[in-house]
Amino acid sequence: MYAAVTLFLFMCLTATTHADHHQPCHTPNMTGFMSVTNLKGEVKAFGAFTYESMGKKLRFRSNESHPANTSHGLDLLMFFDEGIFYEIDSKNQSCEKKALQCTMHPLDIPDDAKFASTINSGSPSIEGEGLKLNVWKGSMPDMKGHYSMSVTMGCLPVSTFYFSESTSFYFSNTDVETDIKDPDLLVVPSFCHGQPVEETPEGTVNSFLNEFM
Ligand SMILES: *[C@@H]1O[C@H](CO)[C@@H](O)[C@H](O)[C@H]1NC(C)=O
Ligand SMILES: *[C@@H]1O[C@H](CO)[C@@H](O)[C@H](O)[C@H]1NC(C)=O
Ligand SMILES: *[C@@H]1O[C@H](CO)[C@@H](O)[C@H](O)[C@H]1NC(C)=O
Ligand SMILES: *[C@@H]1O[C@H](CO)[C@@H](O)[C@H](O)[C@H]1NC(C)=O
Repeated sequence: MYAAVTLFLFMCLTATTHADHHQPCHTPNMTGFMSVTNLKGEVKAFGAFTYESMGKKLRFRSNESHPANTSHGLDLLMFFDEGIFYEIDSKNQSCEKKALQCTMHPLDIPDDAKFASTINSGSPSIEGEGLKLNVWKGSMPDMKGHYSMSVTMGCLPVSTFYFSESTSFYFSNTDVETDIKDPDLLVVPSFCHGQPVEETPEGTVNSFLNEFM
């Protein structure tokens, strides 16, 4: 959390001073772990993710053996290009198919993100003790908020903050590898086939972020 606050302050101080001369990179195929914390310090989820960059597909499954302050385990299969996702319950082999109203997510940089700064976490001069990061930022008009995303020089997302009037979140990725270990995780399970898209209730916004609220 201390690092989080420091980074945010740093962002505020430097964000407006840099020219917008970079194009956002796009993340590669990835497998890793993601933790989701709100800025009240509540861990909302920890689990494994698989991301396919071409098709913009994401699977995230919260790990039940890590304590999190959510009432249920999460198993999400998101198709950002198609604008749909599945909430999967493998235990009773059921799923819900829903439309995405917002396709923003913390595993890729939005095309309209603005370059904020390059920072050196740790030490830039001691071998193996530093991590150089590009910070990107942008707004979330729907939620009256903004985000700040840090990626490595090779475009691996390290952390993302979402700040809004109502709630703020910190997503952090660890043990990221640049391949897909299990492609089957990105395939719709057979028990979800033929599922109709559920009606989105008036006033509800479905997004990856909303799953943690
Ligand atoms: C990413 O993963 C998909 C699905 O496994 C695969 O078809 C594609 O070739 C991979 N892309 C790269 C750049 O490795
Ligand atoms: C879990 O969430 C509830 C409701 O938001 C909150 O009252 C409680 O303090 C949280 N507990 C932990 C351990 O974060
Ligand atoms: C869940 O976490 C435990 C303990 O950290 C680990 O052994 C296990 O492999 C994890 N399971 C998944 C599906 O990631
Ligand atoms: C599966 O379990 C979830 C909660 O654990 C429940 O909401 C859902 O109705 C169940 N579905 C079926 C088909 O039993």
